[in-house]
Amino acid sequence: MNILHHDRLRIVKWPWVLALLALLGLGVYLTLANGWQAHAREWLNLVVRWLHIIYGIAWIGASFYFIFLENALERQGVRAELSGNIWTIHGGGIYYLEKYKTAPVQLPKYLHWFKWDAYLTWVTGFLLLIIVYYADPRAILLAPGSTLPDWAAIALAVGSLLLAWLVYLGLSSTKLLYRPALFLLVGGVLVAGAAYLLGQVFSGRGTFMHIGAMLGTIMAANVFFVIIPSQKKLVRAAQNGETLDPQFVNWVQFRSRHNNYLTLPVLFTMIAHHFPMTYSGGAQWLILIVLFVAGVAVRHFINVTEKEHHKTLVEGGAMPYLLVLAAALLLGAFYLTAPRPSAEAQAHPPVAFAEVQAIIQAHCQMCHAARPTQPGFASAPGGVMLDTPAQIVSYAQKIKQVSVDTQYMPLVVPGVSPLTAEQRAKLAAWVAQGAKGP
Ligand code: HEC
Repeated sequence: MNILHHDRLRIVKWPWVLALLALLGLGVYLTLANGWQAHAREWLNLVVRWLHIIYGIAWIGASFYFIFLENALERQGVRAELSGNIWTIHGGGIYYLEKYKTAPVQLPKYLHWFKWDAYLTWVTGFLLLIIVYYADPRAILLAPGSTLPDWAAIALAVGSLLLAWLVYLGLSSTKLLYRPALFLLVGGVLVAGAAYLLGQVFSGRGTFMHIGAMLGTIMAANVFFVIIPSQKKLVRAAQNGETLDPQFVNWVQFRSRHNNYLTLPVLFTMIAHHFPMTYSGGAQWLILIVLFVAGVAVRHFINVTEKEHHKTLVEGGAMPYLLVLAAALLLGAFYLTAPRPSAEAQAHPPVAFAEVQAIIQAHCQMCHAARPTQPGFASAPGGVMLDTPAQIVSYAQKIKQVSVDTQYMPLVVPGVSPLTAEQRAKLAAWVAQGAKGP
């Protein structure tokens, strides 16, 4: 029988339409004046980011939902051809769902697939990397003062995604795949090592984002190279009246479980750039791995809770210790990232507010003002306005984070001169001395 493999998002089946539109967009972009080009880049950033979040939610949301189904299936008293069934209620309706051990004798007319969300999350994510990090590697990607040429920074960044997949592929083709705890340990050490090494070249933010992108690449590639092909195999076998090798099915399940456990850590790296405290201290790799372990522990807690949904918390079914572990790890990260004014900053001679204001006026206000004067900036980036003394004082900690700890401000663009080491020391000292106003 001819099955209709129903894909949502069929538009992407016409890649030439998308390619044509992209080319047209590029053509228009190149005719724009400089300020308009910067404005257009911001909008491109917004639209691609929006899409990335939409596809990411659709992918991970569906993944969470199907993991829940698998975990919570009733397996007792079902027909022999089923591995379980489940009743759920949502949006004003009651749903009844059955899972087959392999496939029904007669395949249905419509079979709905879930794959484009995963692919498009990756594609839009990669576009965002280009827009935010690779278009100007010196702005955010590279560590301040790095002498690495732009092309080498981009090659390293893109290469790290590829390398992550290859290393993961190597690891998963050994017997380690069937020993999840050991796999987790080895994976964790590798992630910490990668964060340490990337941190030697990239900024903290660039490092965290690339660790997230490496793991996201592994997840999307798992969908593309393992999960979807195995589903195609399953359908083909069902059509031919055959069953799949149980060993093969087992292998796929181990691989897809990796995606399940990677979700929470990857989501952390995607929001981390809003929180410079996590990547601006010394041992960023340590903070990263502490939060990753917390994420994996919470994901495991959710899995166990879903499987043991018939037990109550009091019966000890839900492994509450996993939550205690996660909370302890968060507390550890909280402590490790606490603001510690350097001895140097404290020993600095007193800094008057007027000196600070002069630095901000000369290096920040062209962008961070109610009405920016920097071409291409229609409003204050990040909503951060540094016009008045009160605003400057209220942003003191943030100012120190972005211009002393991570040093990614002021953004390096034509017409804005970077801060000198002396100016950064002044800002740090002012904050260490209590960030007093005029
Ligand atoms: C050329 C324009 C420009 C200049 C000059 C500039 N910034 Fe920014 N700033 C930005 C942009 C763009 C962002 C948003 C970046 C992003 O995507 O995180 C930003 C973000 C920030 C944030 C918010 C960071 C966060 O994570 O929430 C702070 C604080 C900040 N800048 C402070 C400063 C300070 C202090 C200076 C001067 C030393 C400065 N900026 C100079 C463009 C500029």
